[in-house]
Amino acid sequence: MPLPEPFASPHNPAPIGIFDSGLGGLSVLRAIRAQLPHEALLYVADSLHAPYGMRDNEFISERTLAIGEWLASQGAKALVVACNTATAESIALARGRLAMPIIGVEPGIKPAASQSKSRVAGVLATQVTLRSERFRSLIERHAADCHFICQPGHGLVEAVERCEIDTPEVRALLAHYIEPMLAAGADTLVLGCTHYPFLDAAIRDIAGARLALIDTSVAIARQLERVLEANGLLAPVSRQCAAPPRLFSTDEGMHMRRLASTLLGLDVPVEQVSIIAPGDASDRSHAA
Ligand code: DGL
Repeated sequence: MPLPEPFASPHNPAPIGIFDSGLGGLSVLRAIRAQLPHEALLYVADSLHAPYGMRDNEFISERTLAIGEWLASQGAKALVVACNTATAESIALARGRLAMPIIGVEPGIKPAASQSKSRVAGVLATQVTLRSERFRSLIERHAADCHFICQPGHGLVEAVERCEIDTPEVRALLAHYIEPMLAAGADTLVLGCTHYPFLDAAIRDIAGARLALIDTSVAIARQLERVLEANGLLAPVSRQCAAPPRLFSTDEGMHMRRLASTLLGLDVPVEQVSIIAPGDASDRSHAA
């Protein structure tokens, strides 16, 4: 969709909207703050409806559009879909419907294929991401001579949503997913869900230095900067950094506040929002 007039001005102090099914996108927000300290940020966690990884495609698309529209109504100049699952299922639709630049995230298959020496790499992502057409085409494009072991990370998003990032249960789940990859000779692990970078310490304890972890959040932040620049949308640079991000949650936000404080050092209130999408009434929950 062509961008309307205001998007052509040389600098724009309006905020960037970021969203995820829940708390995982905070790993992307962290990278964006580091890369673009002058940008105002609005973050929506759709924690009331997380995880998306077991939902049907229509539900995910409707939630993405409703949240994108809500962020646009709050004045967002660009949207970061900080969710691999929502990107895989709905970014094409969102780009056709929302009049702002939209940046998505996808598993780092390309960097893994170029870095792996053993030519065996693991991918942890949600079932919806792994089954998507976008993921199949990523593998086709970049993995001709590299074997990818794709493992759905069942239970991991839920654990991060509960702020359980290093419990014995989470370690057992991770070991169950990662040990077969190590046994098959993997030297690289793609973190194909934005929740998983928060599990890096537990993953390190299991795999030590045997796996290089691929997290694309820094690459996403750089891509966002390029897109803002190309559209004349970068915030004006001043001596001071932007005010802290505003955090919104579709649930009461208690876990978000805790995770943002402990892992990002961000002590800000979480504002609860109600964002209704057409499919919410029929609640096709966990139908995939
Ligand atoms: N952070 C989301 C992703 O990157 C998690 C999806 C989910 O809620 O299952 O895919």
